[in-house]
Amino acid sequence: MHTESLVVSLFSGAGGFSYGFLQAGLKPGFGVDIDPDACRTYELNVGSPCHEMDLGTIAPCVLKRMTGGQPPFVIIGGPPCQGFSTAGPRNASDLRNRLIFNYLAIVEELLPKWFIFENVEGLLTSGKGQDIARLVRAFVELGYSIRLQKVNLAAYGVPQTRKRVLIIGNRIGVDFEFPRELFSYDSGKSKKNCGLPMAPTLDEAISGLGRPSIDKAAISTYSTDEPVGRFDALMRTGNSAMGVTQHFQAQESSEKQPIELLAPGQTMKDLPSEFWHESFIRRANRRVADGTPTEKRGGAPSGIKRLHGNLQSLTITGAASREFIHPREHRSLTIRECARLQTFPDIYQWEGSSVSVIQQIGNAVPPLAARILATHIQNIDGKFGSGLQCSQHITSAKLLGYVLTEATGMSPALKNTEALLEGMHQGSFAFE
Ligand SMILES: C[S@@+](CC[C@H](N)C(=O)[O-])C[C@H]1O[C@@H](n2cnc3c(N)ncnc32)[C@H](O)[C@@H]1O
Repeated sequence: MHTESLVVSLFSGAGGFSYGFLQAGLKPGFGVDIDPDACRTYELNVGSPCHEMDLGTIAPCVLKRMTGGQPPFVIIGGPPCQGFSTAGPRNASDLRNRLIFNYLAIVEELLPKWFIFENVEGLLTSGKGQDIARLVRAFVELGYSIRLQKVNLAAYGVPQTRKRVLIIGNRIGVDFEFPRELFSYDSGKSKKNCGLPMAPTLDEAISGLGRPSIDKAAISTYSTDEPVGRFDALMRTGNSAMGVTQHFQAQESSEKQPIELLAPGQTMKDLPSEFWHESFIRRANRRVADGTPTEKRGGAPSGIKRLHGNLQSLTITGAASREFIHPREHRSLTIRECARLQTFPDIYQWEGSSVSVIQQIGNAVPPLAARILATHIQNIDGKFGSGLQCSQHITSAKLLGYVLTEATGMSPALKNTEALLEGMHQGSFAFE
């Protein structure tokens, strides 16, 4: 027997993943995270407890006790990604990489009906593909039918291109597809035009916020009384007081850069080299294991960058409010603008210092995408919907399918991963 509606959120952060589930009518029972600020943000907004715990050391049976011993309906979570991220140095011995296996151990102990695992694309090539292959094999051996897919969350209406790896699994033997894409997108760097309407642009996402204040503690007001468009209306939902927090202009850094020289799409590289940061020069020259310059991999921080207002934003990370320049104004994005680009509504309250808050925002699963995933699994499960939305049928536990990239070419590292997964998809396990 599963506890029909229990959602357990691991590595729950500020609650982006959980908030989407809440919006879809599935209120999480509890979250777990090591960061006290994130836990406080979670509790304020999701409205259920967030236990401050180290999931790297806690025995999974402790979590089982917290569920009352009943298998949850779904476990959701995105273990930290710094160890895999292409936006930072990839380090196979980074202990945070092991946290994916702590997630697995908890799934093994709690045996939820469904799970959704989220991570960065760097996971696909970590440990020469062995990490993801081990994880996939272990989920199947636990009795799950799973699908793995790299998705760009802009296709679900997020005003930002954000590539993430998702693994969805169920123990009821249901064959299923991922939610279908709803939007085309183009951030200048990632694009896909599949005849669908464009995802909301950066301007559509933030222009209703109006001018930021100078004072950090000030509450600013919207640019207009009425929402300027559909996305703006969505973000204003529930904010009857019409006040906007966290919408202030950051202090100028001591290394003043002539950002007024940057046109949309231009980066620090387009400024005279005397304005390049030391760290930027180091990172831009770094090459990753498969020999592709990090800049070409799309993840290398490029210092400051002016975004296009008429396109989707680039991926919001913990550095976004430092590195991303407003399309027309000579300032970086505010924390509230970054929160909106991650689809957090304006009523979302944040706990902690500005550094902590932007990290919580950059780490999050956008609630809008999470809500689509939550509704999707509920429909497939038959809990609320017809249960026949997909071409589903009962199957034995297996890797139902995988999508590692939409590009025509693959790096040698990704080809390696594909070979490992294909072996599993065909039913043979090819492990070292
Ligand atoms: C990628 S974020 C998850 C964000 C979250 N899914 C959301 O939507 O807001 C990873 C989270 O793992 C937490 N974390 C890192 N190490 C941890 C550990 N050992 N135990 C528990 N949580 C940890 C971090 O504090 C961070 O909030």
